Amino acid sequence: HQVDWDTSAAELGDYHHFMEKEIFEQPVSLENGMRGRFADDGSTAFFGGLNLTPQELRHVDRLLFIACGTAWHACLVAEYLIERYARIPVEVEYASEFRYRNAPLDKNTLVIAISQSGETIDTLAALREAKRKGYRTLSINNSVGSTIARESDGGIYQHAGPEIGVASTKAFTSQIMLCAMLALYLGRLRDLSYGDGVEIVKALKAMPEQIREVLRQNDKIAAIAKQYANYEDCLFLGRQLMFPIALEGALKLKEISYIHAEGYPAAEMKHGPIALISEQCPSVFLATSGEIFHKSLANIQEVKARKGKIICIATEDCDIPEDLIDDLVVVPECHEIVKPILMSIPVQLLSYHIALERGCDVDKPRNLAKSVTVE
Ligand code: G6P
Repeated sequence: HQVDWDTSAAELGDYHHFMEKEIFEQPVSLENGMRGRFADDGSTAFFGGLNLTPQELRHVDRLLFIACGTAWHACLVAEYLIERYARIPVEVEYASEFRYRNAPLDKNTLVIAISQSGETIDTLAALREAKRKGYRTLSINNSVGSTIARESDGGIYQHAGPEIGVASTKAFTSQIMLCAMLALYLGRLRDLSYGDGVEIVKALKAMPEQIREVLRQNDKIAAIAKQYANYEDCLFLGRQLMFPIALEGALKLKEISYIHAEGYPAAEMKHGPIALISEQCPSVFLATSGEIFHKSLANIQEVKARKGKIICIATEDCDIPEDLIDDLVVVPECHEIVKPILMSIPVQLLSYHIALERGCDVDKPRNLAKSVTVE
C-alpha cells in the first residue's frame, strides 16, 4: 500500500499558494535577518561576513549596486537610504548592462551585488567583471553557498528562508531591510549620531509587529482587488523612497496577473504617463508623510481630474481627502527607513489578489523563471 505524498502541498500548510505563504512569513523572515546584527549599545547594526574593517569602509568613496529584476529595485531603495543616512554616493546598475559597458569606476568604489538566488547569470558575470577590474565586492543574497556568495569578497546572508513563488516577496523586503541596516552601519561610521542610530534600531525592531498589522487587512485588500481585476492597464506612482516601490508594484502586477503596469516617480507623470490616464486606467498611489506629501496630493489631483480611479496606499499620518481617492489602505505610522518595507506589503497583497481574481497561476507565471541562469 502506497501513500502519495504531495510534499509541496504539505509545505504550504494552511496557505493556498507559496506567494501567499511567503507574504505572510515576512514578520518572521525579517526578524531572522535582524537577529544578532545589532550592537549592544542599541545604536547600530553590524554584519559578520563583510571582511572589511571599519577603517577600510571609511575609505570607500562610492558604492555601486548591481542586480536584476526585483533585486534591482531593492538596490534603488539602497541608493536612497545609503545616500541619506550614510552620505556615500551610490550608483545602481542593471547587471546585464554593467557587464558589457566597461564603465569607468572611481578607484575607491565598493561593488555590491544583490541576488536572492545567488545564481543569476548576469549578476554573477557583472560581479566577475568588477572583480577582474580589481574592485572589492560584497553580496547580499538568500542562498548560503551560492555561486555569487562564494565569489564575492564578503557578504550578508538574508536568512529569509527558501522563496518558492516566482514573484519575489519576502526576499525583496529582506533585501531592503539589510540595505537599511547597511545604511545605518555605514552612517554610524561617519556622521549619523548615536541618537539617530537608536531611533533607527528601534524602528527596525518594531517593524515585524507593524507588518502583522498590515497583514490583518488582507480581506479588505482582497475586496479592493476584486474591483480592479478587470482593467488591462495600471500605473503605480510614488515619490522618493516610494518610487522604487512603485516600480516593484508594477513589476509584481505584470508578472503574475499579466495586466500592463508601469511604475513612475509621481512627478514624472506629466512627462508621458498622464496621457494613459482615463476611466480605463487606474493608478495606485504610494503616499507617505513628509516634506513632499503635499506634492503627492497634487499628483493625485491630476489623476482625479482625468477620471482615473485611484487606490491610495498611505501611512496613517497622511491626511488624504476622502473625495480625492476611490480606495484607501492605511499602514502604520513609522520611521522613514522602514516605510519602503511596510508600504510593500499592501502592494504585494493587491497583486496577489488581483491575479487570483483573474484565475492566474500566481506561483508559476507564464514565461518566467525563479532564477535566470542562462543568458
Ligand atoms: C528572476 C525572478 C525575479 C528576480 C530576478 C533576479 O527574474 O523571477 O523574481 O528578482 O530573477 O533574481 P535573483 O535571484 O538574482 O535575485
